Amino acid sequence: GIIRDGAIAIKDGNIALVGASEKLKRDVQAMQEIDAQGQVVMPGFVDPHNHLLFAGSRVDEFEMRVKGATYQEIQAMGGGIMSTVRATRSASDEDLLAQCRKRLDRMLAFGTTTSEVKTGYGLSVEQELRLWRLIAELDRTHPLDLIPTFLGAHVVPPEYAEQPAEYVTLVSEEMLPKLPRDGLAFCDVFCETNAFSVEQSRRILTKAKQLGFDLKIHADEFTRSGGAMLAAELGAISADHLIYTETDDWAALAQSGTVAVLLPGTIFGLALTPYAPARDMISAGVVVALGTDLNPGTSWCESMPLMLAIACRYMHLSPMEAISAATINAAHALGIGKQVGSLEVGKRGDLLILDTADYRDLAYQFGANPVAQVIKKGQAVFTA
Ligand code: NIG
Ligand code: FE
Repeated sequence: GIIRDGAIAIKDGNIALVGASEKLKRDVQAMQEIDAQGQVVMPGFVDPHNHLLFAGSRVDEFEMRVKGATYQEIQAMGGGIMSTVRATRSASDEDLLAQCRKRLDRMLAFGTTTSEVKTGYGLSVEQELRLWRLIAELDRTHPLDLIPTFLGAHVVPPEYAEQPAEYVTLVSEEMLPKLPRDGLAFCDVFCETNAFSVEQSRRILTKAKQLGFDLKIHADEFTRSGGAMLAAELGAISADHLIYTETDDWAALAQSGTVAVLLPGTIFGLALTPYAPARDMISAGVVVALGTDLNPGTSWCESMPLMLAIACRYMHLSPMEAISAATINAAHALGIGKQVGSLEVGKRGDLLILDTADYRDLAYQFGANPVAQVIKKGQAVFTA
């Protein structure tokens, strides 16, 4: 909904009042006032799918792809995810944190106030635990709120190429039980040919569920591999990508209440078609969210506004649907729909002031940053 000439009062970091400016001016004695006349005020973006915790670059692979090589061909040649695993393993904590903080600063400047962060470029007990610890450290030391997802099952590392079943055991029996947790945490699996089969994914996710993790799945990204059906079967909180899904998958996701996290940056980044069938999902009653999938292989992009621009054009969302998908629906994909994602009394005071009077400009214009100011828990944390 839209309130014209509206105002918001934030107290102790949370939204205390929302309504018409006239009324708020009468009711509230503000200690500090921000004038947003002629601008749009909206909830901060929630990015529900993000692999920002990596070192290095795959710009050489990008150039190979521009010349015609496919993502899967590059992975089969030993590049792809494993190339980033090598770079991440050999980076010091300090170096890795410095690279990530730059990404977080850019995300914040583009209006993301809460983000998921996945592990998945460590792929050994020691390295996955290190990445898990670094997510907590980034969360403590950066204004953005971060929610951790364990993705030890991103790909089978070459050490286990001959015995992938042993790697599945390592993930389920060694890594998962060792992850320290003091709050919300998710477990994800890349369910795909050349990554993890439905059977292997089921084993890992079932164990994660027993340990109290909520579940996510990289599902049906390059082929119809059965990830969406598995997500519905296990009651996952989200199923992500979902390019190659069909009527049965959408019905199952709608039935289980699993959020479809769609990642148009990946399809754009790889210059592929088709985009995820968002309209069919919405018609089937599936809740659709949008994320960046920020990662060095398929979608190095910190900008949620660009995701909206692509989603409106190629997935045919209206600007208003795209905003819902990138805020409240994304919050539900992270289990925090009651705390963030909309401007309602009691929710966190996370909001954006846009440099325009028409919210649709978020999707209409692209490439530049539409965000004039970011307010996080009531504090100005970014000003253009
Ligand atoms: O979501 N599909 C798996 N993970 C990423 C790609 C990661 C990478 O290439 O480094 C994705 O597209
Ligand atoms: Fe991903």
